[in-house]
Formats: sequence, C-alpha cells, structure tokens
Amino acid sequence: MSVHSSRKRLVAGNWKLNGSLDGNSRLLQELLVRPEMQAECDVLVCVPYVYLPQAVSILKGSAIAVGAQDVSVHAKGAYTGEVSAAMLADIGCRWVIVGHSERRQYHQESSAQVAAKVLAALNAGVTPIVCVGEQLADRQAGQEVCVVQDQLEPIKALGAQIVSRLVLAYEPVWAIGTGLTASPQQAQQMHQQIRAYMESDQVRILYGGSVKADNAAELFAMPDIDGALVGGASLDAQEFLRIVAA
Ligand code: PGA
Repeated sequence: MSVHSSRKRLVAGNWKLNGSLDGNSRLLQELLVRPEMQAECDVLVCVPYVYLPQAVSILKGSAIAVGAQDVSVHAKGAYTGEVSAAMLADIGCRWVIVGHSERRQYHQESSAQVAAKVLAALNAGVTPIVCVGEQLADRQAGQEVCVVQDQLEPIKALGAQIVSRLVLAYEPVWAIGTGLTASPQQAQQMHQQIRAYMESDQVRILYGGSVKADNAAELFAMPDIDGALVGGASLDAQEFLRIVAA
C-alpha cells in the first residue's frame, strides 16, 4: 500500500528518566560531531523536562531537534506539576512523545487522554509522537491488532487532517527494554495494519522496542517502518548514531 521513499525517516531517542547536566552535555556533543547523517532523516532526542533548555541550547543550529516525553492536556491554570504544549513551544521544543506505554501503565493514561494531548500539542505547534502497542498476553491471545486499533481509535476520530500532522510509534510492550525485539516481519505486519486502519499513506510509523544498531537496518528495510523510537540505545551516542546511519 505504501511508498516508503515519500516519507522522511525519523529516529527519535527517548531518554526516559535518565540524565544529568554533565552527562547530557557529553552525549549531545558526541551527537553533534556527525551532523552530515541527518539530511535524509529527522533526528531528535526526547529528554526530561528539566533538561529541555539545556538540550535546546546545545543543539541550537544543528539538524537535531528536541522533544519532551509528555505534555499536559491543559493549556494553563491550576494544574500543579503539569507542563503545557505552549510552554514546550516557548522554549524551542517542537516534538513530544504522548501515550508511551509507561505513561499508560504507571499513570493510567487512557487513549482518550492521549488524543486530547495530541490536540493540545498540535494547537501549540508541537508535533506529537503517539505510542501504541500491545502487551505480551494480548499477542499470545491473538488480540494484538484489536488492542492497537482500540488505542488508535480516538486518534483516528480526530480526523484525517490531524492524522496527517502526527507521527505514530508502534511499541509492543513486551519488547520495551527487554532485549526482545519484534521480528522485522512481525513489526511490518503491524505497521501495515496500522497504516490501513488509519487510512494514511503519509503518516510516519516508527518502531520501538529494543532497537539497537545491530537490528535497526533490517527493521528499516521494511516498507511500512519509517524509523525508530529508541530508548536504552539512545543513551549511548555511538550506538544511537549507528541507528541513525542505518
Ligand atoms: P527501549 O525503549 O529501546 O529501551 O526498548 C523504547 C521506548 O520505550 O521508547
């Protein structure tokens, strides 16, 4: 159904709850040493809120963009602890991960809330990377497609215009941080299903879940895999650059 070459590849690092001023500075400087690779591929790092200004400042003028890992559904007001999409845009952060499985699992985020975050982000000019993915038990029960479609349903309901402005990430929960990767065929099959369900040839669909330099190329060779959301391996500059190179 899809034509790979018309969609620009994207590799996003998700640092999760990791980092320090010193360590970040070293990691980001190492990424900047190889700017030539980013021409055919969007590259970004999604860092903890407090380090966003640091990352924006170090990466200023480079081809590497900065993203956050979550955003409030609210624009402003009495919501202690929240960070709005407008605040992200204000400091130069143009991307945000929403609906990561760790948010769904540990913060009980519903797919409806995820859809609200998508709108909040887009309204502020921030591009959301929307994560979906099934648990191991879902796959064992043959329910993986239903589960992922349920998660996508409120996003699809936002309409084709909105869908064309976001990025999706398929992250099977059993593959996150476990060293178990979906096989390229398993991932491709799901990406194809997601693309068909969303009725969009243009939406970029990233794969996430134990992506490493060693398995990136075979995943990226699949026609519906448009890049990766990289957790653990994004904390190692050389490993991350090898994934970008792939
Ligand atoms: P992982 O994490 O690459 O460490 O498996 C991916 C993610 O959670 O985005």
